[in-house]
Amino acid sequence: MSKLERLLIIDFGSQFTQLIARRLRELGVFSEIIPFQKVDDKNLKEYNPKAVILSGGPASVLEKNSPRTPLNLFDMDIPVLGICYGLQVLVKVLGGQVERGKGTAEFGRAFLKKSVIQTDLINGMFSDDSEQVWMSHGDHVSEIPLSFQVFASTESAPFAIIGDKKKKIYGVQFHPEVYHTLNGSKLLDNFLKISGFKKNWTMKSYKETKINQLQKTIGDQRVICALSGGVDSSVTAALIHKAIGSKLTCIYVDHGMMRLNESDEIINMFKDYFNIKIIHANESDLFLNTLKGIVDPEEKRKIIGRLFIEVFTKYSNEIGNIKFLAQGTLYPDVIESVSFTGGPSETIKSHHNVGGLPKNMQLELVEPLRELFKDEVRKLGIELGLPKHFISRHPFPGPGLAIRCPGEVNLNKLKILKHADSIFINQIKKYNLYDKIWQAFVVLLPVRSVGVMGDGRTYDFVCSLRAVTSVDGMTADFYPFDNEFLGETSNKIINEVRGINRVTYDITSKPPGTIEWE
Ligand code: XMP
Repeated sequence: MSKLERLLIIDFGSQFTQLIARRLRELGVFSEIIPFQKVDDKNLKEYNPKAVILSGGPASVLEKNSPRTPLNLFDMDIPVLGICYGLQVLVKVLGGQVERGKGTAEFGRAFLKKSVIQTDLINGMFSDDSEQVWMSHGDHVSEIPLSFQVFASTESAPFAIIGDKKKKIYGVQFHPEVYHTLNGSKLLDNFLKISGFKKNWTMKSYKETKINQLQKTIGDQRVICALSGGVDSSVTAALIHKAIGSKLTCIYVDHGMMRLNESDEIINMFKDYFNIKIIHANESDLFLNTLKGIVDPEEKRKIIGRLFIEVFTKYSNEIGNIKFLAQGTLYPDVIESVSFTGGPSETIKSHHNVGGLPKNMQLELVEPLRELFKDEVRKLGIELGLPKHFISRHPFPGPGLAIRCPGEVNLNKLKILKHADSIFINQIKKYNLYDKIWQAFVVLLPVRSVGVMGDGRTYDFVCSLRAVTSVDGMTADFYPFDNEFLGETSNKIINEVRGINRVTYDITSKPPGTIEWE
């Protein structure tokens, strides 16, 4: 394994800290994030980073006991970049001044002007006179440390990029890690070059590092993993299996409400292709019997969530002697589950997700994807040998087709829905639209309509097609299919699926709608 060059990010609590790490990975550098409370002179020296980035954060350096860096950081002769609060910390520690008020707070878009003093930190930037950056600060620097120079300013922040070139200590008042700072990655890349990084980090080296860490953490113990067939749990299982082989057992809780042939595909892939120990807990009768007569969406979701835990616990107890539970928690799950205001947020739907489940099981958690974003998980999956078509599948909700069948779910409805859904998805693939769409599926409505087929009257179900574009599932818009596509798909469904005689297209955006119907 190639020796990793390490950059340390000292985290002062910014919401964007993981984005810094992500940008650095994109630039080929491995970084580790350490909360400011956990870093001191001693472990900083032991860690021996090649460079340090100080993140932003919600505190004010003017407050008593506000967070600081270890004292020896600036004597270690390593490059440092302070971002936002990180800039203000280094200014304060190195003898400059920070003030509040006087109308200098900036939030959102701002434009940098460069000064006459050159610095490699801004190489490749300023192709125009000014650079768009993203600001989010209340306090401002009013006096820079003696050895510092000013490289750029905005109208409200005269010290927007400052630094001591000889000591390679720099500070920026804006956030180079966010997308809206258009050349932010360039600035970070320049800092990496100034720091002498070879930039040889790849997803392959990440995989190797993680496998090593997992072997150390898990040792000879046994691990279980709830496999849902989704990308996150699949990549988690494949990664842990690479690390510990047969000490991993996956449990696939089959509630009988997966898409057509999906359960077989998942089982075959993991069992035959990867040779992973997998228990196929086929409990569809239990789920469908318990859901009999239930029409309320929240009740359906809660029943499915509860049964999932029961089944999972039952099968894992049968294996026995397990120390760890593996979960495919991603970084956005971590940040969404943390409330910055401390207040509860409103529950729109009780999300069911194989991560976050058996809390009562007294197992230690292993979450090897915790610092990754979805697209990075996909790359890791490819690196682990998971087929591309599997990795790039549309998201699928934990409660499965139950929430695409408003009203009572039963076997007959599921059969009709699975068939119609597979026709819709095949059409989307035939028209080369699959990767342009975030999610597409059919919803079987609890409505019957009168139709005429051949010379006879029909009285069958109505379905709705749903296809949306989205970046993160938080907001979404309907996909603008053309009439040819819609007409052909509707005909195919009505001709081939017994039980549906009318097809509609859902053109609701999110908000006000949600992506799923329940
Ligand atoms: P909504 O319907 O809330 O969905 O707009 C947003 C995204 O989340 C998926 N979804 C779920 N995923 N467990 C999951 O793992 C769930 O209970 C669940 N409910 C909705 C939905 O498919 C969409 O991608």
